[in-house]
Amino acid sequence: MEIFHISAECYPVAKVGGLADVVGALPKYQNKAGHLARVVIPCYDTKFKKENKFECVHWGFVKLGKFNFSFNVLKETTDKLGFELYLIEIPELFDRKEVYGYEDDIERFLSFQIAALDWIIGRNEMPDVINCHDHHTGLIPFMMLYCDKYKKIQNTPSMITIHNGLYQGQFGFDKLHYLPEFDLAHVNVLEWDHCINSLAVAIKCAWAVTTVSPNYLNEINYSANGLESLFNIVRYKSRGILNGIDTEVWDPAKDKMLEKNYSVENFQKGKQQNKETLCTLFNLDPKKPLFSFIGRLLEEKGGDLLPQASALALSENYKEINILILGSGNQEIENHLNSLLVDYKGNYNTFIGYNEELAHLIYAGADFLLMPSRVEPCGLNQMYSLRYGTIPIVRRTGGLKDTVIDFGDDGNGISHDQASVGDICYSIQRAVSLYKDKKHLNEIRQLGMNTDHSWEKACQEYIEVYNLIINKV
Ligand code: GLC
Repeated sequence: MEIFHISAECYPVAKVGGLADVVGALPKYQNKAGHLARVVIPCYDTKFKKENKFECVHWGFVKLGKFNFSFNVLKETTDKLGFELYLIEIPELFDRKEVYGYEDDIERFLSFQIAALDWIIGRNEMPDVINCHDHHTGLIPFMMLYCDKYKKIQNTPSMITIHNGLYQGQFGFDKLHYLPEFDLAHVNVLEWDHCINSLAVAIKCAWAVTTVSPNYLNEINYSANGLESLFNIVRYKSRGILNGIDTEVWDPAKDKMLEKNYSVENFQKGKQQNKETLCTLFNLDPKKPLFSFIGRLLEEKGGDLLPQASALALSENYKEINILILGSGNQEIENHLNSLLVDYKGNYNTFIGYNEELAHLIYAGADFLLMPSRVEPCGLNQMYSLRYGTIPIVRRTGGLKDTVIDFGDDGNGISHDQASVGDICYSIQRAVSLYKDKKHLNEIRQLGMNTDHSWEKACQEYIEVYNLIINKV
């Protein structure tokens, strides 16, 4: 089967969050399973772009209202990622360091979607399915169905995979003329809450809707930033498929970013050595339990709760614990976290920024990983931490609920119900007691390390959904 994944991110080419990890892994496993999966993303000014070779396989023009942009389609020449990677190069719009956050993001991603479809319909064969990811590619299913110039691909099924329904890519009808010509009888399809809502459009027009965990699919029926009723209507074509993790990239036995490799047979020693390196780097005491947070410092991830929870946990435990935070995001949260550095020196540290290598070392060297998310459609960090023998402490929401079971119920982690300072501190307290019972602690670590979160199974579920929609044609 020939599959095109169209996305804004793909690891290791351009990464902001977990979307990149999924788009950088799922296609690889689809190819291993005998399919032909390709990835199309915009061409940003990233390290990967500079350090790798590309050939131009197509060029054209995108017309966006009164603007005209020329574009090239660049193919990575070695296929070393395990899939064919295509970058849509539109220099005026994407030759920038960041993936998102610009005033013209609507124009950027709309041009990207149009250029991607222009190129695909120019090819001899149409793919069997187009898998769009999140709102940045949400207008593709609409354009495939209703735009005159894409008639050739009208009967190709499209699917939208929702990694995060909070972000929806809304814009005003004043930009309607940016879209390629379509039959105006369908203009209503674009509307949700008086705007053009890219995610809502995808949910309406895609032949199938998937979310990145089964529990998140249940949750969005009552909590989806205004799209609840729409999700209820499309339930018949929706499915929650739990993400996998790339067990080749995330393998403590082979991970080159670690100080010491280890497996489930010798994890105690291996983890300790990584912990010591980490503690030396961050002026922490390797004898104390090490709690970490890795991720974006946003309210959505419970980042705003971290400063207060850290301060309270450190004072309640009379400095018997270590906390290390790695992340960036909301400046206020960053400042608040840094303001604790003076009072808790020697027991607390931060690294404000994004650092993939350090993240790997933390998964290996930490004892517990905090994920107090308010919203977590799947969450990958808890799966990485399980694989590295680090016990996740999570709020029971979205995919965290599907993957982490409290050790009180013979599970692999610690979980609590509320995204609150009180619940986080209570869980930390339970972790501190658990840390003293080394036998139990190691049993739970082992359970986590033995859990299979590889992509093989999830990959098969994607194929099942593609088959369902392909057979509808
Ligand atoms: C988004 C979600 C996260 C999910 C990831 C990959 O970043 O917030 O929960 O794991 O996408 O699907």
